[in-house]
Amino acid sequence: MKKKALIYGITGQDGAYLAKFLLNKGYEVHGVKRRSSSFNTKRLDDIYTDPHFKTNFFLHYGDLTDSLSILKTISNISPHEIYNLAAQSHVKVSFDVPEYSANVGAIGTLRILDSIKSLNLSKKIKYYQAGSSEMFGAAIPPQNEKTNFIPRSPYAVSKLFAHWITVNYREAYNIFACNGILFNHESPIRGETFVTKKIVSALYKIYKNKQKKLFLGNLYSKRDWGHARDYVRAMWKMLQQKKPDDYVIATGTQYSVKQFINLCAKELKMNLVWKGKGINEKCYWNKKVIIEIDQKYFRPTEVDSLKGDFKKAKKKLKWKPIIGIRDLVKEMLDYESKNDK
Ligand code: NAP
Ligand code: GDD
Repeated sequence: MKKKALIYGITGQDGAYLAKFLLNKGYEVHGVKRRSSSFNTKRLDDIYTDPHFKTNFFLHYGDLTDSLSILKTISNISPHEIYNLAAQSHVKVSFDVPEYSANVGAIGTLRILDSIKSLNLSKKIKYYQAGSSEMFGAAIPPQNEKTNFIPRSPYAVSKLFAHWITVNYREAYNIFACNGILFNHESPIRGETFVTKKIVSALYKIYKNKQKKLFLGNLYSKRDWGHARDYVRAMWKMLQQKKPDDYVIATGTQYSVKQFINLCAKELKMNLVWKGKGINEKCYWNKKVIIEIDQKYFRPTEVDSLKGDFKKAKKKLKWKPIIGIRDLVKEMLDYESKNDK
């Protein structure tokens, strides 16, 4: 029998990669999208087919703040696997909309888990929770499954509730539920306001003389950046194990935001010169200022240094990242070039 998967957050970066991955594995894939005033399914255009004709891919309206829609969707589809990738996923924005971020990220997770339990589907459905390295916050790197969580944003705190409620429903009701603790992962279809996509897209436009300047915040935070394509494979692998468990997924290397900019510039053969310090630091290209600091992009509390230790995933899931940061940068830049009008 064909396996059925239900993806919350299907219209996001990871949702799109995971949907394609599961379709290639022969799954029937269902996804939940939110109603919006303009189309929000751009990342799915290449796999969407008219449901009036034969297809393995179905979209349903729903929202993680709406318990009734969650109960109804899970009951109607009765999937073998649920991947909960839905969240207000921007850390800086979570300081502006903390209650909403918690409603979706924390209580939304509880709503799905409790629907599985209430519908007596605990034995049938395997559940994946999209946890985050942001939960480690101020913990000293390298971080692994045994590292203490010291969250530094409303987003991170909401993800911690989601993490522990997933552990609790696993222990209390025997649900096959796994937490993936994923470090940052990017791609050409990364949301425009995350720092890698913002840098790649602006630097490409500056290189083509279509934009004059880029404004950024903290250049010195360090992140462990992988590729989303590698990371969705790990999500699926977690649900194929004999027992449910929690896993750190990372590359084990870290770069600062400034180093990421320099990597992109190298790929574009742009010779950058950095001058000044703190909020007065500036980046020059061809004697013109192209990058400046704007304090509005700083967070009230920052996560300075993330670097994951993924030994457990390597041993138990036989998973490791394939795409390195240079290939990631190249792929992101190629995408900008192909979509340059
Ligand atoms: P993303 O591109 O921001 O996608 C988030 C998805 O959640 C979108 O489909 C969004 O729908 C949906 N969503 C937001 N609010 C919702 C609501 N109230 N009800 C239902 N759906 C809602 O995020 P991503 O990068 O793919 O990340 C996927 C998940 O992994 C997120 O939970 C994120 O927090 C977590 N995570 C990401 C990373 C990373 O580096 N990418 C690392 C660790 C953990 P719209 O398209 O309509 O906005
Ligand atoms: N977004 C953004 N915009 N970040 C900036 C900017 C800017 O203009 N300038 C500097 N940064 C710094 C941020 O302060 C942060 O230290 C770093 O760049 C990365 O920021 P983001 O790309 O927004 O990602 P994030 O690390 O905060 O969160 C992402 O990764 C988490 C996993 O650790 C998101 O995808 C989260 O959803 C995810 O859980």
